[in-house]
Amino acid sequence: MTSGGDSAGMNAAVRSVVKMAIFRGCEAFVIREGWEGLVRGNQSPDSTPPQTPSVSTSQPTFADTADPKGKASDRNQQTEQSDFVPTYGEGELLREGVGEAQELGLRGRYIIRVGWDDVRGWMDQGGTLIGTARSKTFRTPEGREQAAYNLIINGIDALAVCGGDGSLTGADKLRAEWPDLVSALKSKGRITEEQATKFAHLNIVGLVGSIDNDMATTDITIGASTALQRICESVDSISSTAASHSRAFVVEVMGRHCGWLALMAGIATGADYVFIPERPPTGQEWHSEMCEVLQKHRDLGKRKSIVIVAEGAIDRELNDITPEMIKNVLSDDLGLDTRVTTLGHTQRGGKPDANDRILATLQGIEAVDAVLEATPETPSYVIGISENKITRIPLMFAVEQTQKVAKLIESKDFDGALALRDPEFAE
Ligand code: F6P
Repeated sequence: MTSGGDSAGMNAAVRSVVKMAIFRGCEAFVIREGWEGLVRGNQSPDSTPPQTPSVSTSQPTFADTADPKGKASDRNQQTEQSDFVPTYGEGELLREGVGEAQELGLRGRYIIRVGWDDVRGWMDQGGTLIGTARSKTFRTPEGREQAAYNLIINGIDALAVCGGDGSLTGADKLRAEWPDLVSALKSKGRITEEQATKFAHLNIVGLVGSIDNDMATTDITIGASTALQRICESVDSISSTAASHSRAFVVEVMGRHCGWLALMAGIATGADYVFIPERPPTGQEWHSEMCEVLQKHRDLGKRKSIVIVAEGAIDRELNDITPEMIKNVLSDDLGLDTRVTTLGHTQRGGKPDANDRILATLQGIEAVDAVLEATPETPSYVIGISENKITRIPLMFAVEQTQKVAKLIESKDFDGALALRDPEFAE
């Protein structure tokens, strides 16, 4: 499932999870439209129950078909237990036609069994092909009960969710409530005793898909690298006009309350000045400091001035610093012909870059192994990356740390916020 705002690399993550799950001998499903799709399930009157997919004779060509973690015995065990044939060929998406399958999502089939070939060609696709949606219903106990029911009747006992911290919080909530949800479904007679026993545990794993790179405990999130690349390309284009007309440009970039995109874009494009939420200036001090820096660069012969402002930029009093405010200072105090460009959603969509494809693929592989190795005692994990190594971090710890950062910024403890997001900063 993908959830929250789309980010480049989400399809690569789904592809990786589907292929790795099949490789490990599991049945794979996609859930369309995020948590909303899970709540709706396959309820439409014209929906057909999942069928046994066709099996192609060709073997998978997944990068490494060796069994590096010695999981072959687990795989055999799973095959024996659930008596199914792994879907190396087409699943429902391709058999029914991808276009039609997309329509099916709208007609009410949200949980679709997929095979190896269904996710063919997904690696380089932008956005999320299985859709994402905000779900009010999932926030209600009834919604989560229905979500649990839909998982059980489809025979799903493990869930990989790719999304931001909000989406991952939802995942952990579902897991925490799972035993109560199963009991409620059993006492209402919606599931059998046998199903209640078979689905006594739900294993959940998170992959962080977000352009903002705002998740504590991981170095980078799926989609952030592509968004940064997009920003750099846009600033490069803007720079041509800026230099031609000797203008100043204020470029607003996304990132919500996180300044990573703005800061990295500032470095990568050689911007003159950058505003980020984590290093807010005191009151109006930025007026004179920014003008001094830009004037110095102009005095050295620079014909263009670029100021990058994170959409969440604030001053120490927590007042917004807007691109218009910056433009007015540059025009009034320096007399620069200044334009504002808000890059908006051009930053979020489009083909993932190589980094996001690789990150999503490696994390998808780890995600499947994390749920297969999970026991009722292990926490739900979020898959991260730290110093170039793929990691597993307890999901709630990662979410809590991320939310603490936002709270520290609200309480004006900016150093504390940075230290939490990047522990090395504290050292
Ligand atoms: O979290 C990703 C993000 O693109 C943020 O950078 C931005 O603030 C927000 O989502 C925009 O959300 P929406 O697409 O709902 O306007």
